[in-house]
Amino acid sequence: MTGKTILVTGAAGFIGSHTASALIERGDRVVGLDNLNDYYDPARKRVNLQELAALPGAAERFTFVEGDIRDRALLRKLFGEHSFTAVAHLAAMAGVRVSVDDPWLYYDVNLTGTLNLLDAGREHGQPNFVLASTSSAYGNTKEVPFVETDSADRPLAPYPASKRSAELLGHSYHHIHGTDFTALRFFTVYGPRGRPDMLAYKLLDAMRLGEPMPLYNGGQMYRDWTFVTDIVQGVVAATDRRLGYEIINIGRGEPVLLSDFVKGIEALAGRTAPVREEPMMRADVSYTYANIEKARALLGYDPKVSVADGAQRFYDWYCSAVGEVSS
Ligand SMILES: NC(=O)c1ccc[n+]([C@@H]2O[C@H](COP(=O)([O-])OP(=O)(O)OC[C@H]3O[C@@H](n4cnc5c(N)ncnc54)[C@H](O)[C@@H]3O)[C@@H](O)[C@H]2O)c1
Repeated sequence: MTGKTILVTGAAGFIGSHTASALIERGDRVVGLDNLNDYYDPARKRVNLQELAALPGAAERFTFVEGDIRDRALLRKLFGEHSFTAVAHLAAMAGVRVSVDDPWLYYDVNLTGTLNLLDAGREHGQPNFVLASTSSAYGNTKEVPFVETDSADRPLAPYPASKRSAELLGHSYHHIHGTDFTALRFFTVYGPRGRPDMLAYKLLDAMRLGEPMPLYNGGQMYRDWTFVTDIVQGVVAATDRRLGYEIINIGRGEPVLLSDFVKGIEALAGRTAPVREEPMMRADVSYTYANIEKARALLGYDPKVSVADGAQRFYDWYCSAVGEVSS
């Protein structure tokens, strides 16, 4: 037992479930909060929760609460009942393209939801607050690799705008109330339990189901693919450190052309994915590339998983959890 109690929002989701798992495994008490929404099949989230509940020590140290971060009364109750050491705030609406169609939902969940959590923390013992933010906050910046000193004030879609807004709100809570607030800007996360709307998953779905998936701009976009266990390493390190107010990139720092990533997955499956060519989306950025010096210095962050290794691990998980792909 570490004596720490961490609130993990979005604990049933992709990154949230891996984060909760790492914290439970090292001996923290974890309260998971998630509304199990249907952005993708909630049955997948229930499987993630079952896997968490089966971890050694989970019976004593893991509690799941089905609830919404927009529910202020629920948050007050939760923060009142538990003395949270830290909040790993991973719950969000997270699709760049979908946010264009329903920006209200994205602001409601990602900004007002964050406000509710910050304020519940202010009322109840000021836990260390870690926000999952995004590399897409940088928009089409000319400063490459992306560095935290960039003003990041030209997001290209409501999703990154909502996350950037939440970062700024965190600053005001830090300034006025002394909240310790770290925003981690994640770069293209992939791995087991990955979201079905993300590229690696869609590629394998396209092969398995024989239904073409859209490939934007011929795959001529760079992405700084970061394996989920590396992301979690950054999140856990951030919950352990009270840093005042910081924004920190959590990426790998080695961008790979999207079409090359596609070829790598195709090589693993031994077949090509049916694709439908689509032009570049206005909401999409051309490249993401993390400068991770700050993460190394402040968090001791050190990404371990190469894209080749990570793609293999994702492929193996997909075949066992979703379905066989090879012909
Ligand atoms: N996956 C990536 O590449 C990536 C990149 C940058 C940032 N992020 C951020 O990381 C975090 C986790 O993303 P993910 O990829 O694991 O997505 P995910 O959709 O798998 O996880 C988000 C979880 O939050 C829950 N949730 C959504 N709205 C909620 C609400 N109102 N109340 C309570 N729970 C709610 C969902 O049910 C889901 O389980 C998000 O904040 C996302 O914006 C992800």
